[in-house]
Amino acid sequence: MPDSKLINEINRRRTFAIISHPDAGKTTLTEKLLLYGGAIAMAGSVKGKKSDRHAVSDWMEIEKQRGISVTSSVMQFEYEGYCINILDTPGHQDFSEDTYRTLMAVDSAVMVIDAAKGVENQTRKLFKVCVMRHIPIFTFINKLDRDAKNPFELLSQIEDELGIATCTMNWPIGNGVDFKGVYDRETKTVLSYIPNGGQREVEKVEATLLDPSMDRLIGEANHAQLAEDIELLDGASDSLDPERVARGEQSPVYFGSALNNFGVEPFLEGFLKLTSPPLPRVSDKGEVSPFSEDFSAFVFKIQANMNKAHRDRLTFLRICSGKFTRDMEISHVQGGNKRMRLSQPQQMMASEREIINEAYAGDIIGVFDPGIFSIGDTICSPGKELRFEGIPTFAPEHFARIRHKDTMKRKQFVKGTTQIAQEGAIQIFKEPASGMEEVIVGVVGMLQFDVFEHRMRTEYNVEIINEGLPYQYIRWIDNEGIDPKELNLSSDTKIVQDFKDNYLLLFTSEWNIRWALEKNEGLILSEFNKN
Ligand code: G4P
Repeated sequence: MPDSKLINEINRRRTFAIISHPDAGKTTLTEKLLLYGGAIAMAGSVKGKKSDRHAVSDWMEIEKQRGISVTSSVMQFEYEGYCINILDTPGHQDFSEDTYRTLMAVDSAVMVIDAAKGVENQTRKLFKVCVMRHIPIFTFINKLDRDAKNPFELLSQIEDELGIATCTMNWPIGNGVDFKGVYDRETKTVLSYIPNGGQREVEKVEATLLDPSMDRLIGEANHAQLAEDIELLDGASDSLDPERVARGEQSPVYFGSALNNFGVEPFLEGFLKLTSPPLPRVSDKGEVSPFSEDFSAFVFKIQANMNKAHRDRLTFLRICSGKFTRDMEISHVQGGNKRMRLSQPQQMMASEREIINEAYAGDIIGVFDPGIFSIGDTICSPGKELRFEGIPTFAPEHFARIRHKDTMKRKQFVKGTTQIAQEGAIQIFKEPASGMEEVIVGVVGMLQFDVFEHRMRTEYNVEIINEGLPYQYIRWIDNEGIDPKELNLSSDTKIVQDFKDNYLLLFTSEWNIRWALEKNEGLILSEFNKN
């Protein structure tokens, strides 16, 4: 029987990611949540030009320069007995693979939507990634203090475009300059909006719809509209079904304004109640309960040079079961069950790090990595080895031949490309029989090239030459012992190898893939690397 401390600690954990189209307010909401947790003591609001502020979670230089979130960061804080792990995800679509890996490490996701814009392009893409993982999705419709779309229209857009049922937990009263607050459907009370510059202490006025003060509080017209809306909602909308929420089929929806810190606390409280503690995970030995006394975790992110002064490489682990204690012996399964102790285990608070003595299922910890871990690796108690499901890599869609400008920098070039590829930030290939003088780099989104180039320059001191290649599709050759030179391929198909010497083909069009399959009987091509 697991001891009760272990059960309590795991039960109070909530681990989730926040996703949104850029500018919908993900960073602002994250900061307000941290404010509630007392993790930051921010007096002012984050409002300001992107160029002269950077949120606590945006720490990489390129992120600051461009005002986008490239890497995902992890933050832990306590709130009313809960221990909360928030994982920030890159907002830009070019980094959706990083988002996918982050989503592998969480038990639910919060989707932030701009009330004026509704479902945007990137919301759709990130949502699709969530659906692949079947995780519960909670929706926060933000910026009600600005002119907003009709809330019914917003809900039907979410339902129609994203294909998920919704259940509104609260309802907005007016919007823009006429924004008066939200109506809580469970308690049947109005929480009236009093702008306060986004501070934590929100002045609250709560009243029921029948309260005589209501007309004065929200205005006669708003009161009448609200009564009508609620009648419609109560009659026509789905009621909350926690089981459907858990399966990712129904999304509880909250309205508010992150910048003004309005509706954030009710959202956080409702969310914490509805979302589940750490969930079991699938492994090759069956489902692993988080409450198991045996420790297990997997690697979902690797990040080199987080602290340039130390040239370190951090590996991020999601703990799936049991308890981690500092200096405990663990087994690295993909490293041939090698026994080791994890060096300087730490938890993150954006760029602040803290060495930890213990952590539990649901937590994310970072450990120093001398270069032995890969994304998807399992780490567990010695003698209790198992393997968690792997994390698939996305097929790159853009390719370039990369060389170093200065031949004296060969060593740094090899180190940089290899390390950045190990992080999963790029994929590298080579032409058969060629060395590491030049590599073919594949990425899912073009911005990844910019980040790669920037990091090579600033972290490895190497200027690179980037020659774009016209390929758009990549396929691994799955047949054993085939000599690709013998294949009948269109003239613009290229044969390359990955660094495990597997053969792959790069194609410029789908037509060329069909040609290769038609002209070479028995050829098996796959979109994913199964090795
Ligand atoms: P993101 O992480 O999803 O990209 O969004 P972020 O929080 O950075 O917010 C984007 C902009 O929207 C910011 O303006 C932020 O202050 C504003 N914002 C966030 N929540 C609210 C809200 O509830 N109401 C209003 N009115 N604005 C909100 P910014 O820093 O001025 O950026 P920019 O406009 O200069 O790009």
